[in-house]
Amino acid sequence: MVTVVDHPLVQHKLSVMRDQHTGVKEFRELASELSLLLAYEAMRDLEVVPARFSTPLEEGDFPMLSGKKLALVAILRAGLVMTDAIVNLVPAAKVGHIGMYRDPESLAPVAYYAKLPADISERRVFLTDPMLATGGSASAAITKLKDAGAHSIKLMTILSAPEGIAVIEREHPDVEIVTAAIDRQLDDHGYIVPGLGDAGDRIYGTK
Ligand code: URA
Repeated sequence: MVTVVDHPLVQHKLSVMRDQHTGVKEFRELASELSLLLAYEAMRDLEVVPARFSTPLEEGDFPMLSGKKLALVAILRAGLVMTDAIVNLVPAAKVGHIGMYRDPESLAPVAYYAKLPADISERRVFLTDPMLATGGSASAAITKLKDAGAHSIKLMTILSAPEGIAVIEREHPDVEIVTAAIDRQLDDHGYIVPGLGDAGDRIYGTK
């Protein structure tokens, strides 16, 4: 299942990120803001239970988060900007990291690092990667999460390609994708078009 967050604020911020003239500082800030807006949608189905306490005026039952605890997991390195933003919204969440890079020749994902919360099987996991391109890295990261015991996983991306969505839907049909937009296609180098370029380079000013 794919949820496209087509809110005007999300779409506007994404368009500014796409602009080749948008600089590093603004790009990074927009990526953080978009991550919060995506998290707002991705976490819409978190459980709440009524808690009884008093406001300064009267006693009542008020909804508070309950149920499974949360884990945010970043696919390094570009996913970091997303978890760094979202953890401010859910400060009790634990944060994991999975290091993946794409082999430039084969485009196959290569894992070089994984550090996950030990109790990840008891947590709802929000996996972050700004760009869902071929789907190779995201799918491999999801497999790693499942191997570690995770069984409630949502994938949060800023931009997705139809090819990557098809891979996740085929290999991990239980994983919902929450994204700001689905672009036309991948180019011959595995870049999303029209896209926004290399998200990691634009966030960190490398090239
Ligand atoms: N990763 C990126 O950063 N950009 C793309 O277009 C595809 C993968």
